[in-house]
Amino acid sequence: MIEWKSQYSVENQRLDEQHQKLFELVNEILEAMKTEKSRDAVFIASVLKQLYEYTQYHFRSEENLFVGTGYPFVEEHIQAHRDFTGKVKEMVADQNKIGSSLNAVRIAQTANAWITDHVMRFDKGYALYIKTGGKLKINL
Ligand SMILES: [Fe+2]
Ligand SMILES: [Fe+2]
Repeated sequence: MIEWKSQYSVENQRLDEQHQKLFELVNEILEAMKTEKSRDAVFIASVLKQLYEYTQYHFRSEENLFVGTGYPFVEEHIQAHRDFTGKVKEMVADQNKIGSSLNAVRIAQTANAWITDHVMRFDKGYALYIKTGGKLKINL
């Protein structure tokens, strides 16, 4: 299970709440892996759909916040969002191809590893940049 901690805060309540919701979604998948649900193709398809839709919504919220502020890693950050979107799309395609649900573990591992790493490496960066009025920049 992954637990949202204050160290993940981007000092923006709305975006912290969105991250918490993403953590919940990942936990739901991790939880399902222990049960029969992990082999339920309908459940897996719905999880992937939620993961896709919620991350799109979240990425838009973040990009709207940092684009135009002078934050120096706009391109890299947007690319990181695109890379994750690509991974989710790939999993959806695989899921459709095999027509079953062999990839609950893959979804859980991909989302789990990505989200904490991304929040710490990228999202904390724009948080610090905005908080310090552009004085502090983090090198990726
Ligand atoms: Fe984020
Ligand atoms: Fe981000």
